[in-house]
Amino acid sequence: RIVYCAGKFVPEDQAHVSLFDRGFLFGDGVYEVTAVIRGKLIDNDLHLARFRRSLAELAIPMPATFEEIENLQQTLITRNGLTEGTVYLQATRGEADRDFLYPDGLKPTLVGFTQAKKLLGTRAQEEGIAVALVPDPRWARRDIKTVMLLGQVLVKRDARAAGFGDVWLTQEGQITEGASSTAYIVTDDNRILTRGNSRMILPGCTRQALLRLCDRHGLTFEERSFTQTEAETAAEAFQTSASSLVTPVVRIGDAVIGDGKPGPLTRLLQSYYLEAAG
Ligand code: PDD
Repeated sequence: RIVYCAGKFVPEDQAHVSLFDRGFLFGDGVYEVTAVIRGKLIDNDLHLARFRRSLAELAIPMPATFEEIENLQQTLITRNGLTEGTVYLQATRGEADRDFLYPDGLKPTLVGFTQAKKLLGTRAQEEGIAVALVPDPRWARRDIKTVMLLGQVLVKRDARAAGFGDVWLTQEGQITEGASSTAYIVTDDNRILTRGNSRMILPGCTRQALLRLCDRHGLTFEERSFTQTEAETAAEAFQTSASSLVTPVVRIGDAVIGDGKPGPLTRLLQSYYLEAAG
């Protein structure tokens, strides 16, 4: 693979970042994952806007313009011949001797790489997945897409060991979101529910794109929190992310959702999303 590392395109074994990079020592950095389908970046304007927002919230300067970043993403896609998968981008605060307080004038470290991955017609998308319900272990600024992901690493590991496909996180009896996705349920009267954006969840780009599609197709979409019980007794459930697109959820903890198969509205949203992705 050819990767992008702090200003250069190099083979992955020649990419080096300093031991003193604050991303490595403090998790002091942010990232984005954009889907690539048929060689094309999906919803990338939304991902770049969120990248800029995450950096601004941490007072890390934008390491390059949107145009430069998109060019580097395109170069990675072309040079690696990527047709389906993801492009990962990461910017950290930069390199400095270890101290919680950071000096002024650090130069952010920007890196990027591609990952070839089947996104379309996966078994998860065709058959749906079971998700574990786990108390949300994360910090209080989940709206920032930081590389500080140990909570998610641990809950996903445990859920996998228990035979689940993924995790939905809970707090005070409500679902916050998926461990790396936005969570949705469909009510008996065909309303699509997902939690409103706040510091409690990451504002999903796929969510934003799907919300627009619901408007366009006249589907009822409600941005509000829902409880664990509402989720367990929902007519349908699904999750979205750049790397899993629209994935049906057919079991939540021990509760089978609907008849245990992906629901009709979920199917419809999958097809609208793929159609919009071209
Ligand atoms: N994760 N919520 C969390 C906590 C996430 O980590 C993600 C994405 C999402 C969905 O966001 P989007 O639709 O913009 O991908 C929601 C990415 C895919 C990851 O960490 O690999």
